[in-house]
Amino acid sequence: ALFQRGPDATLRMILRKPSHERTSEELELVFEELVHIAALSHLSTSIKRELSSIFVFEAHAQAGTILFNQGDEGRSWYILLKGSVDVVIHGKGTVATLKTGDDFGKLALINDAPRAATIVLKENNCHLLRVDKEHFNRILRDVEANTLRLQEHGKDVLVLERVAKQRGQHSAFKYTVMSGTPAKMLEHLLETRLGQSVGGMDPFLDDFLLTHIVFMPVVQLVDELANYFHCDTHEDAQTPEDREYIVNFKKRVIQFMQKWVMAVRHAAFEEPSVCDFIEDLAAEVEADPDLNEETSIVHNVLTQMARYQEDRNQNAGQKWKLPPNGQPICLFSGNATPSKTVIRPDDDIIFRVYCADHTYCTLRFPMHTTAELIKACAADKLQLNRGPEDLCLVEVKSNGERSVFKDNDVSIPTGLSLNGRLFVSVKDHLDALTQLQEQECPTEGVDIDLEILSTKELAYHITLFEWDLFYAVHEYELLYHTFGRHHFGKITANLDVFLRRFNEVQYWIVTELVSTPSLSKRVGLVRKFIKLAAYCKEYQNLNAFFAVVMGLSNMAVSRLQQTWEKIPSKFRKIFQEFEALIDPSRNHRAYRVFVGKLQPPLIPFMPLLLKDMTFAHEGNKTSLDGLVNFEKMHMMAQTMRTIRFCRSRSLGLEPPSPKSEGEVRSYISSFRVIDNQRVLTAMSQKVEPTRK
Ligand code: CMP
Repeated sequence: ALFQRGPDATLRMILRKPSHERTSEELELVFEELVHIAALSHLSTSIKRELSSIFVFEAHAQAGTILFNQGDEGRSWYILLKGSVDVVIHGKGTVATLKTGDDFGKLALINDAPRAATIVLKENNCHLLRVDKEHFNRILRDVEANTLRLQEHGKDVLVLERVAKQRGQHSAFKYTVMSGTPAKMLEHLLETRLGQSVGGMDPFLDDFLLTHIVFMPVVQLVDELANYFHCDTHEDAQTPEDREYIVNFKKRVIQFMQKWVMAVRHAAFEEPSVCDFIEDLAAEVEADPDLNEETSIVHNVLTQMARYQEDRNQNAGQKWKLPPNGQPICLFSGNATPSKTVIRPDDDIIFRVYCADHTYCTLRFPMHTTAELIKACAADKLQLNRGPEDLCLVEVKSNGERSVFKDNDVSIPTGLSLNGRLFVSVKDHLDALTQLQEQECPTEGVDIDLEILSTKELAYHITLFEWDLFYAVHEYELLYHTFGRHHFGKITANLDVFLRRFNEVQYWIVTELVSTPSLSKRVGLVRKFIKLAAYCKEYQNLNAFFAVVMGLSNMAVSRLQQTWEKIPSKFRKIFQEFEALIDPSRNHRAYRVFVGKLQPPLIPFMPLLLKDMTFAHEGNKTSLDGLVNFEKMHMMAQTMRTIRFCRSRSLGLEPPSPKSEGEVRSYISSFRVIDNQRVLTAMSQKVEPTRK
């Protein structure tokens, strides 16, 4: 009854009284009415009784009255008893109309954020119930409905859910984004999520910055930002409030830029449209006295951009080599400093492409060249005389396994397995492709007597080397890798090289052991490798630690009974502890607990991070009913943040006393490796035949 006619005179009278003047009979009357309000139906009886005493009645005679403005501080929550209101957003106009029984205004209260929209009465004579912030916080904050759906033009555009906030913050819950349209999520960020968090970034902002490339390409993001920034150019008559609002918006775009660059570093500058936008922004800030305080932020961003561009020009067209017989990419060519070891999309790479008869051609292409182009060029050079649609580019692994590249895939050569080779083949003849003989032999590397090298020095230089490889990997490469490079046209070369390194170390251990015929030397080697694992663990290089221990647990090594029998029990015990640490059961629980206690700098076990990414990707849809599933983005961003955490402090290891530094460094930069398990097992059989 309450909401068809509006409350009768008696009720209105009661609801206008201050709460302490309401008698128990009066409260009972109010309570009986509250039972019929849809917006309250999820609340318990006792809460409705409490609300009976604090609801305030408001009546407004005039359509067009503004209840509150977008950007205002939130003071109350409202329920519409009679009439209707428009939800109006700057630059968009009316996005929704709320009617009798609807509620609004709790977003700002729960998130302690500015109002996300202006509320304008649509009809004369509207009736509302109001709960002020202090009561809302006391009675409703923790029991309010868990999901909040914001609509525009009848469609959901943002779905929020209450989650417990992290400890140390004053109230227990906050709305977090579960899904939304890209544009609305960005608006929500700019309107309510900037400049609030003390100490660190709002996790939603950080998640958005790390993952937006999945659902909102850079070009679109810059476009939207430019629109926000220039929202004043089409309005001629500006009231002072409008002006203030517009200035605020410009400030937020600048803050956003700053956080963006902070979160993704040089990757923000890779797109020319972003650099243009930053330059425009800088010019406008310079010219606008209202944005005086922002000039230093903009300068800082400009400086970083200039540094990036200079670095890129200096190192333009770096050349990497993928030697035909083996080793990854020669990363320390010339006097390159570590910061220059980042492989860029337009760096060249030299590699071979074979065809079925094992003849080959040598090609040189930028890293971002598509498989299609490589295929066409190789076919031409090898005189295959077939159209591109009949051909495919394929990797043949050392065990003969084949995997075909998609035409629009990029960073092909770095994506090969250790002893894999690229082939161009007629599609119908794929089955006839065989691996080269040389693929079963060790890759190129320094041949040295390992015995004479200090184990600690080995671990130290392995860690320095891998730290540089790890440092060159960008968080985005994890996304490219997980969703497929071809979706983005972006290279994953730095990640590829780092992952190859993992396999290289693992198979190096196996190769060394099965190619050592002397039993006593093998025993010495196993002891050395166990010590090596211990030093890697001590240096917090868990990637190498895993690789070494996995190498030692490889079937071809673990079957060497005579060798293991001669290993002192002290070493065997240490090795068992290491094996327990790499045990994959319960989702690698042992490792996760261990690594969870470490402080940076550390090199994580990379394959597990990729597994987490893939798990999040395959277990969750990217889009839900046309909205971006932001929960998934959050999961992925968590993993990406792990990488950031690991290298948040620079590596400052105490160097061991150098004995043969130069030799160790060249030795560890490329190992001699066989990566064919069948060959390794056969060699193992040869050094220690199975006892009958
Ligand atoms: P709040 O931000 O506190 O104030 C404005 C209110 O408008 C907001 O809470 C929501 O309750 C309501 N609203 C309804 N639809 C939308 C929408 N599409 N965008 C923003 N706010 C909306």
